[in-house]
Amino acid sequence: MSIQVLDKTFVPYLSEQEIQDRINQLAIQISADYEGKNPLFIGILNGSFMFASDLFKNITTPSTISFIKLVSYKGTTSTGTVITSIGLEENLQDKDIIIIEDIVDTGKTMSTFIPSLQQLQPASIRICTLLHKPDALQFPLRLDYVGFNNQGKFVVGYGLDYDGYGRNSREIFQIAQTS
Ligand code: IMP
Repeated sequence: MSIQVLDKTFVPYLSEQEIQDRINQLAIQISADYEGKNPLFIGILNGSFMFASDLFKNITTPSTISFIKLVSYKGTTSTGTVITSIGLEENLQDKDIIIIEDIVDTGKTMSTFIPSLQQLQPASIRICTLLHKPDALQFPLRLDYVGFNNQGKFVVGYGLDYDGYGRNSREIFQIAQTS
């Protein structure tokens, strides 16, 4: 069944079952990879809040979780968008970090954020993203755990938004083809 979010129509893309099954697989893999390491998960708000919740529920190795918000704005220099993290109070030194992101599109957000995280001297940083648009990637980035690759269509639901709306569903929808 299609849904309307503001001025756009979206059609079903991933069902609740498909999402939950894939998250269970990711959680099993991450739990095995990080056994005995006490990793710190960092969820990127707002979009990853549902994914982070469901992933973390299924992690079986002792772990902690924190959330941050990345604020992007146009700087006055030619470097363009500047990203600042808000709310990270943990000491990251020597911690094994797993970033939980909703979707990696061009990779700009993550490739800008990671160097600032590296300055806090964690032992390691890996990225876990629910969705990835491989064809849109413009910034060199290693994605360690990817839920689903998609063809680059705009998606909403399960925490992902269109202008703030459309987050509130258990499924993910993609934008309807406009002909
Ligand atoms: P990037 O910096 O281009 O990789 O974009 C990543 C951010 O853009 C994500 O964290 C989302 O907030 C947003 N974004 C990219 N594609 C979509 C989409 O299809 N639906 C909703 N948000 C998206």
